[in-house]
Amino acid sequence: MAHDNDQLIAVHQEDDPVQTRTGDGSTATESNCVTRRKFIFGSGAIVAGTVMLPALPGMGGKALAADLASYPRQLVGSLSQLRVDKPVSFTYPDEGQNSQSMIVKLGNPAGGGIGPDMDVVAYNTLCTHMGGVMGNTYIPRENVLGPCPFHQSTFDLTRHGIIISGHATESLPQVLLELDGDKIYATGLIGLIYGRYDNLKS
Ligand code: FES
Repeated sequence: MAHDNDQLIAVHQEDDPVQTRTGDGSTATESNCVTRRKFIFGSGAIVAGTVMLPALPGMGGKALAADLASYPRQLVGSLSQLRVDKPVSFTYPDEGQNSQSMIVKLGNPAGGGIGPDMDVVAYNTLCTHMGGVMGNTYIPRENVLGPCPFHQSTFDLTRHGIIISGHATESLPQVLLELDGDKIYATGLIGLIYGRYDNLKS
């Protein structure tokens, strides 16, 4: 059955098999659709190359080619040195324009959080609205970044940087983290850094 992709609503957990519900209430499986969420998470893969996506509804049954980004695996800190509510700055995925980022132990479990408490997360700190600098706007205990000094946008760091209030419409780009012993590595990004058309080109 053909579906309008914009009408697909994801009803699966992140690691469950993909099952979606269409606007008319029927369901479809991964074999004939790709959810927006799954595509975004997939774009953070660290393997370079080109893969073929299943044919999307409305695309005449043609398979699509998608380029997978190749992010650097970069040491950004150590678990034992992080303190709750004390952000540490770094740059990622390079030292170019708008790459300023921070890692913070929130003290509360968070989406994408690593460590025994699943509370260590990292984000690019440029506001997604118009690039307001927010590296020093973390609010302890509330686990938010903001308000942005330009137009007051505030982002929830426990929920993948989703916008809480303000003018921004996109979540903060979240830096994917990997724990290797006590060392913490950045391995990718979810979302687009403000001012870039490609996270890997500054
Ligand atoms: S630049 Fe941050 S809210 Fe506008």
